[in-house]
Amino acid sequence: MNLITIDGPSASGKGTVSHLVAQHLGWDVLDSGALYRICAYAVLEYGLNADDEQAVAAVIPDLVIRFDVDRVYVNDQEVSEQLRLEHIGKLASKVAAYPAVRQALLDLQRSFLTNKGLVGDGRDMGTVIFPQAPLKIFLIADVNERAKRRYKQLVEKGIDADFEAILLDLQKRDEQDMNRAVAPLKPADDAIVIDSSYMGIQAVVDRILGHWEQ
Ligand code: CDP
Repeated sequence: MNLITIDGPSASGKGTVSHLVAQHLGWDVLDSGALYRICAYAVLEYGLNADDEQAVAAVIPDLVIRFDVDRVYVNDQEVSEQLRLEHIGKLASKVAAYPAVRQALLDLQRSFLTNKGLVGDGRDMGTVIFPQAPLKIFLIADVNERAKRRYKQLVEKGIDADFEAILLDLQKRDEQDMNRAVAPLKPADDAIVIDSSYMGIQAVVDRILGHWEQ
């Protein structure tokens, strides 16, 4: 089965690594975080009450979601840039704690797996969505290193960034993702943990491809 799961906390480099691994193997990528971000976007777009779990989950079947390389469309409108906004990420983390939301996204996520092959990028790819995956990676990095990376990304994009605020936000997000009752962020029992704190992206990609080719 052509399937690799890559889970881990915010800013651990999962997105970039997942795309490079998939590119090398000629496979697709499932950016599951984007799906939770789309839910957050829908909450704001439809003016839903973010505290109302059932209302948030109920909107999911109405959304026509399409990924086209690195572009994301919801109901034919491009939302790629909006999804990356900080407040969307925070709201995504909130709605991702709702069991009804996770349930509503289950089949959609599994439908991304085809014979072509898939790299599943997220928090629960190896534990909940694809427990049958033959290779599961759990990518971690020291929170200070992750904050530095995120800060650099923002500065490179010409966005004003506050390092301390980013660090605090990452710590809060980790805490929220690890301590929720459903699908908490944790490695699958059979996952390989890679600490990328002091590794370049290509070294991480090569390590994963090495495990796949074993
Ligand atoms: O880029 P960043 O790591 O900050 O976020 P993301 O991967 O786009 O995911 C946004 C939020 O969705 C995370 O904080 C998680 O709470 C949630 N998420 C999840 O619960 N399960 C997944 N498989 C993916 C994301």
